[in-house]
Amino acid sequence: MNPEQLKGRSLVTLKNWTPDEIRYVLELSHSVKKAARTSTVHQRFVGKTLAMIFEKRSTRTRCAFETAFGEEGGHPVFLSTQDIQLGSKESVEDTARVLGRMFSAIEFRGFKQSTVETLAREAGVPVYNGLTDQYHPTQALADILTLQEIFGTVQGKKLCYVGDGRNNVARSLCVICAKLGINFTVIAPPELSTDRELLDECSQWAAESGSKIVVSSSLADVLGADSVYTDVWVSMGEEHAAAERKRLLSPFRVDEALMEKTRNPSCIFMHCLPAVKGEEVTVPVIEGPRSRVWDQAENRKHTIKAIMLATI
Ligand code: CP
Ligand code: NVA
Repeated sequence: MNPEQLKGRSLVTLKNWTPDEIRYVLELSHSVKKAARTSTVHQRFVGKTLAMIFEKRSTRTRCAFETAFGEEGGHPVFLSTQDIQLGSKESVEDTARVLGRMFSAIEFRGFKQSTVETLAREAGVPVYNGLTDQYHPTQALADILTLQEIFGTVQGKKLCYVGDGRNNVARSLCVICAKLGINFTVIAPPELSTDRELLDECSQWAAESGSKIVVSSSLADVLGADSVYTDVWVSMGEEHAAAERKRLLSPFRVDEALMEKTRNPSCIFMHCLPAVKGEEVTVPVIEGPRSRVWDQAENRKHTIKAIMLATI
């Protein structure tokens, strides 16, 4: 893989990234992390600018982009939709054209996937999806980096996602696992299962990588999992559905009994955070020895820096 082919590339879903390109960014992430550990200082974004548009709240994603870019000498500019003319007063297309003239790259977190795709189409600079209703690709990269640190090779490992199988995190995990040969099992109530359209798309990549994608509503299918992953029951923007989600997902809470059901003493627990402790995961699990959630959170920064280094 020639790294030059990534220059100017946007990251909106990972679907148009080849397995080799994803592996390259992960390797770069490992070296970025190593450099951070030895306090090696680089200034690779001097003279560069990053627009960071947020329609939804964020702790990890915002801080990862802002610190990763700033500490390399770049100038990140945080733009909440309270401040800029996005969508209401000015079209997404026009906003993209203007920002593309002033910034080296654009990050977008918000509701519609179509917004980040329009930005990517019109801006003429790399655009990164920092989470939409449908995808969270930078999270998925950090999650795989975490798995690589723990297990070395991830090919053939089993990642089991338990909870809202149609949310952004589950969907991006499905894509990256299919591409990298990781077996991916979604355990969700049928009403909240991953959509057929995405599963069909992923099945092509899974066939090429040797990954097995399984959709289930039986908790017994955590058997043999190397990682049990969950996310909040109510994603940002879906607050109106909270009562229904609680009803559907209460049997899918990750607790110690479920971790035991994996019958794998090395099985780890993962969560993208923020977590509602006591809801989708119990305190003993998220605070317990199997939990790797803080590594995942830290790895957001290293993977995001790697993406920006690879594409700007
Ligand atoms: N995991 C994640 O995206 O966290 P934030 O919402 O804090 O950015
Ligand atoms: N599914 C969650 C992820 C938060 C990082 C949400 O969209 O709110």
